[in-house]
Amino acid sequence: MLEVKAATIQTSPVFGAIQENLHTALDLIPKNCDLVVLPELFATGYQFISRQEALAVAEDVTCRKGDNPICDRLDSLAAERNMTIVAGLAERSGDSLFNSSVLFHPDGSHGVYRKVHLFLDEKLIFDPGDLGFPVFKACGTTLGMMVCFDWIFPEAARSLALSGAEILCHPSNLLLPWCPAAMITRSQENRVFSLTSNRIGREDRTGAPAEFIGMSQIVSPQGELLSRLGSDGEGAAEATLRIVEQDKMLTPSNDLWDDRRPDQYRL
Ligand code: ACM
Repeated sequence: MLEVKAATIQTSPVFGAIQENLHTALDLIPKNCDLVVLPELFATGYQFISRQEALAVAEDVTCRKGDNPICDRLDSLAAERNMTIVAGLAERSGDSLFNSSVLFHPDGSHGVYRKVHLFLDEKLIFDPGDLGFPVFKACGTTLGMMVCFDWIFPEAARSLALSGAEILCHPSNLLLPWCPAAMITRSQENRVFSLTSNRIGREDRTGAPAEFIGMSQIVSPQGELLSRLGSDGEGAAEATLRIVEQDKMLTPSNDLWDDRRPDQYRL
């Protein structure tokens, strides 16, 4: 059985303090992790007041080393520790701007997911994701990414699971209180691990204060809560994921995939 040592990091970033936020988040990563997930927009903060402001700190993931303070630091750490890192950041691509989750492989290559379901004022800042829900080989298994509000659309987790993901990495800046419980269901109904990395604290840059709920967590394919943090402190939720590839049998006669009836569904 494959074992993956995983952690989801919970921080309280200060808007715009990129170097300080990077330092705090990376300091919380436990030693000897195989896989670590950091929150959505973890280094910049969340409440941009304009697209221009977000573009100024957005990074082009395909750029040369030395051009991207956030990606360069995560590239170095992934290589140094032979670890896979998933982190949320503002991504610039030509004239487009995405709220993305980037997978940093230890060999310096990247996987990218661009948030499909934008929340509230994110619609004024970012373009909606245009890459669908890709999956990536990493840590000896298959990973998928979704970002925060994607949780309320079961199609996001389902698409990833149907594409073979065994682990859903879920960088978040959660405001609504229902997500931690819903992600237990997303894990159960797809029989996948889910790693939600959320932030805490408050931002009030737009006149609509945002209070982030924390409760970063790791859930097993059976819906067991393997680790969960509270709503107050920074920290790391840790668990060893014991992965049985494509274990979709719910009972001796119910295979989660074979029992689906797409001809009966309205999709
Ligand atoms: C959210 O999608 N950041 C609430």
